Amino acid sequence: MSPREGRGQGAQVGTLRGMADPQEVLSRRVQSALGAAFGPEFADTDPVIRPSQFADYQANAALALAKRLGRKPREVSAAIMEHLDVADVCRAVEVSGPGFINLTLREDWIADQTRLLLEDPRVGVPVQERLDIPLDYSAPNVAKEMHVGHLRTTVVGDSLARTLEFLGHNVIRQNHIGDWGTPFGMLIEHLLEVGEESAEADLLTSDPNAFYQSARTKFDSSGPGADDFAARARRRVVALQGGDEETLRLWRELVGLSRVYFNKVYAKLGVTLTDDDLAGESTYNAVLADVCDELEAKGIAEVSEGALCVFLEGFIGREDKPVPLIIRKSDGGYGYATTDLATVRHRVEDLKADRILYVVGAPQAMHFKMVWATARKAGWLPDGVEVTHVQIGNVLGGDGKILRTRSGAPVRLMALLDEAVERAAAVVAENRPDLGAEEQAEIARQVGIGAVKYADLSVSHDTEYTFDFDRMLALTGNTGPYLQYAQARIRSIFRKGGLDLSSPRGGITVSEGAERDLALKLLEFGAVVEQVGALLQPHRLSAYLFELAQTLTAFYEHCPVLTAPTEAERESRLALVSVAFRVLVQGLDLLGVEAPEHM
Ligand code: ARG
Repeated sequence: MSPREGRGQGAQVGTLRGMADPQEVLSRRVQSALGAAFGPEFADTDPVIRPSQFADYQANAALALAKRLGRKPREVSAAIMEHLDVADVCRAVEVSGPGFINLTLREDWIADQTRLLLEDPRVGVPVQERLDIPLDYSAPNVAKEMHVGHLRTTVVGDSLARTLEFLGHNVIRQNHIGDWGTPFGMLIEHLLEVGEESAEADLLTSDPNAFYQSARTKFDSSGPGADDFAARARRRVVALQGGDEETLRLWRELVGLSRVYFNKVYAKLGVTLTDDDLAGESTYNAVLADVCDELEAKGIAEVSEGALCVFLEGFIGREDKPVPLIIRKSDGGYGYATTDLATVRHRVEDLKADRILYVVGAPQAMHFKMVWATARKAGWLPDGVEVTHVQIGNVLGGDGKILRTRSGAPVRLMALLDEAVERAAAVVAENRPDLGAEEQAEIARQVGIGAVKYADLSVSHDTEYTFDFDRMLALTGNTGPYLQYAQARIRSIFRKGGLDLSSPRGGITVSEGAERDLALKLLEFGAVVEQVGALLQPHRLSAYLFELAQTLTAFYEHCPVLTAPTEAERESRLALVSVAFRVLVQGLDLLGVEAPEHM
C-alpha cells in the first residue's frame, strides 16, 4: 500500500502538510493536470503516485484512466504531460513503459522542503481537525493474570493514543478493567481467610496471579459442605451483586490493591494511563438492566431458554443454528456482552465519540461484531461513528505456543520487564564501561523496556510474534536498541563538535546521493504519522524509522559530518542530521520508546 491510501481520517488544519511531503505535492499537481486535460470531474481522481525504480516517483494514473476514457494509456499520459506544471518541483519528467510518468525531484526543491522541516517544531506532522476518540486499551483483569497479551494491547493502545493526540485529536482513554463477576466471590473469601494485612494479600500488589491461583485451588478442592469454601464463595457473589456493604468494601479493597499493581506495571512501561482513565466493567452495573429493557422493548432481544438473547442475521454456528448474543443469563446475571453494549452507548451518547477504538485480543472479534451490530440496530451507534476493533495477535514462546513459564503458568509481566532490563544492563556494561553506574542503569532501563515495547510495535498488531529476548535486544536489525542508537549517535556527533543540537539553521544543500536519500526520507515523516492515525498500525511508523536509521548509516559512510570537505557542507550535514534526530526522537516518542542520551 502506498502512503497515500488510508488517509481519509480527519481533514488537516495545518498548512505545512503537503508542503514537505513530495508524494502529496506531486499528487496535487498531477490532479490539477488531470482536471485540465479531461475536465473538472477528473480533478479528484487518484493520480496513483508510487515510488519508482527509475525516478523518485511515478504517476500511474494513465493506466487506470485509459479504460475509463477509452484511449491508449500513452495518449492519456501525453495529455497529462501537456498540462502538468511541475517545473519548480521536478528536474525530469518522462513517460516510460506503457504510460507511467516518471518524476525526478529537483535537488534545490528537496533542500528547501527540508529547511522547512528544520524550522517546524512538528517536523512535518500536520494538525488534523479535532475528533473525539474514546480509546479502549490495556484492560487487565483484577486479581488475575496480567499477561503478555495485556502487555501488547497496552503498548499498541498507548502508541495509538500518543499518535492520535499528536495529530490533534481528543483521545479519551478507557481502561475497561475486568473488575466484576463471579470470581470475586472466591477472591473475597480468600482475602478474608488470609487476612487483609497478610503477606499473601500483599501478593495482589506484586503477583496477583499467585493470589488468584491460590483462591482458585481452594475453590476447586473445596468439599461439598454448606460451609465449605466454594459454598461461601457462591454466597459471596450473591451478596456482592445484592450490594451488601461489607462485601462491597472488601471488593473495593481487592480492586484497589490490583490497581496498585497495574500502576506499577504502567510506570515501569512508561505508559500514559492513569487512574482517571479507569472505566472498568463495574462502572456500568447501574445501567445494565436498562440496556436489556431497551433492547427487549425495541424487539431486538428475546427470551430463549430463560436467557435474554439477541439473534443477529449472519451469525450462524454449528448445525446452522443462530448464535445468540446472551445479554441476561437465565439466573438473571449480566455478562461481558451486556457491559460492552453499555460501553458503546456511553461512548457515543456521553463521550460524544466521532470514532471509537477497541484495542483488544483478536479472539474477541466475533464478540465485538455482535455487540456493534446490536448497538447499530438499537440506534446507539449511528452510521457516522466509525468503530474499529484493533485486533491484537498472540505473543508466542520459542515453542510456537502462547508464551508461558516452564510450569505452564502465564508469564508474569513484571518479571519479564525486569529480565529485559537486566539483560540490557549486561550489554550496556560491556559496551560502555566508561559511564558511571547510575547512568548505566538508566540506559539499561530505557533500552530494556524500549526493546520489549518496540518488539510489540514493529510487527503488525494482528499477527502473532515470538517473544525472543536475544532478538529484541540486538543492536542491529529492526529493534528498539538499533533506533535508540541511531539517535544517540547524532547526539554524540554534536557533543564531539561542541555544538548544540538545536543550533543548525538553514544552509541545507543536497548534492551527494546519500544526502538526497536522507532528505527525501525525512520529508516522508508527516505522511507516515498520518497514516498510522488513519490505519491504526504503529508498525508502519516502526518500519519508517528503521528505514530512516538505515538511510542514516549509509549517509555516514559517504558523507562525513564534522569532517566534511567544506564549511558549507558541514553546516548542511549538521542541519540534515539534526532534522533526522528530531524525527527519530519524535517517532520513538509516538511509539512510547525513550531516547537515551548515550548508548
Ligand atoms: N478484560 C478483557 C480481557 O482481559 C479485555 C477488555 C477489553 N475491552 C472491552 N471493552 N471489552 O480480555
